[in-house]
Amino acid sequence: MADEPLVLGIETSCDETGVGIVRGHTLLADAVASSVDEHARFGGVVPEVASRAHLEAMVPTIQRALKEAGVAPSDLDGIAVTAGPGLAGALLVGVSAAKAYAYALGKPLYGVNHLASHICVDQLEHGPLPEPTMALLVSGGHSSLLLAPDITSDVRPLGSTIDDAAGEAFDKIARVLNLGFPGGPVIDRIAREGDPDAIAFPRGLTGPRDAAYDFSFSGLKTAVARWIEAKRAAGEDVPVADVSASFQEAVVDVLTRKAVRACRDEGVDHLMIGGGVAANSRLRAMAERRCEDAGITLRVPRPKLCTDNGAMVAALGAEMVARGRAVSSWGLSADSSLPVTDPHVPAPAGHDDDHDHEHVHDHDHVHELSRKNLYA
Ligand code: KG4
Ligand code: ZN
Repeated sequence: MADEPLVLGIETSCDETGVGIVRGHTLLADAVASSVDEHARFGGVVPEVASRAHLEAMVPTIQRALKEAGVAPSDLDGIAVTAGPGLAGALLVGVSAAKAYAYALGKPLYGVNHLASHICVDQLEHGPLPEPTMALLVSGGHSSLLLAPDITSDVRPLGSTIDDAAGEAFDKIARVLNLGFPGGPVIDRIAREGDPDAIAFPRGLTGPRDAAYDFSFSGLKTAVARWIEAKRAAGEDVPVADVSASFQEAVVDVLTRKAVRACRDEGVDHLMIGGGVAANSRLRAMAERRCEDAGITLRVPRPKLCTDNGAMVAALGAEMVARGRAVSSWGLSADSSLPVTDPHVPAPAGHDDDHDHEHVHDHDHVHELSRKNLYA
């Protein structure tokens, strides 16, 4: 093993089959096969369709990533996989594949958290994460403000959505506007032609008595849907660009306002934004401006690393190896509701399966590595 671990990461929590390979903080390959087109006509991801697509895409995507990275499977120092949260059946395909490859190659297995991976991926773009890291995580299933003193072992939720996730709100409004699925990218594009101040949509949970770091997008979603219905009922054209821009502005305003406030309250001088919605151009622009005004350094990975991919899983896996975190057991299962406070799924205490015996050597290696204080 070189002084930076070479790790392959597998991501199958939703509709993207992602396989990434990293060496420490360096991205070597990022292969993604998406089944999004197969779900579009249903207006949302169909779990069974996603699982079957993962199964078909898995081996070719792994081969593509290995080729792109120019590494042999035997060179790998570990295999990481999203253990949760996500769609149970979809996760299971990735977990099974990771176990099969790890077992066949005699490599340590690391089941990691999808949400922590969305944060850790930024190391591939902007170098080591500051400790603690303040992260705004905004995806199709989650919207949270997280404070992570150590992304491999200590992730603390400060607040999260009490109803819809930010990405879910984009997808639902896109459906009402007949813009197709997924909604985020298309609303982002159309909103550029519209006026963000055209319609004053509500900003959820921003009153003086509301929870400072929680989010709510359900009231906004209803308000936008009613506004559109009223226009249609009156026989008027719906100004799609203005509605998109005004809706997007309401979401982005609340997200950035609360994130900057969390940084100020916690005395953290930087903000990381991750997850699919972090690809949003207006969110990036507003966060940039508000962070600059508050003296906060903003870190947002490039859009391709924000949406689901395997590189983010590999990035967190490499960090687990570098810091000598415990490996997962062969009994690792997919956990559709893995809490954000569990960055990885270590083997249960006192367990004794083949993995321990197979990887005595790897364990020693990992510990030796962590002693060398990687990335110091
Ligand atoms: O992180 P992600 O790829 O998958 C989950 O873990 O959920 O996030 C997917 C979500 C979808 O709701 C999608 O509409 C949203 O991210 N999204 C965007 C943009 N690109 C993707 N939302 C707003 N603007 C975008 N440019
Ligand atoms: Zn995600």
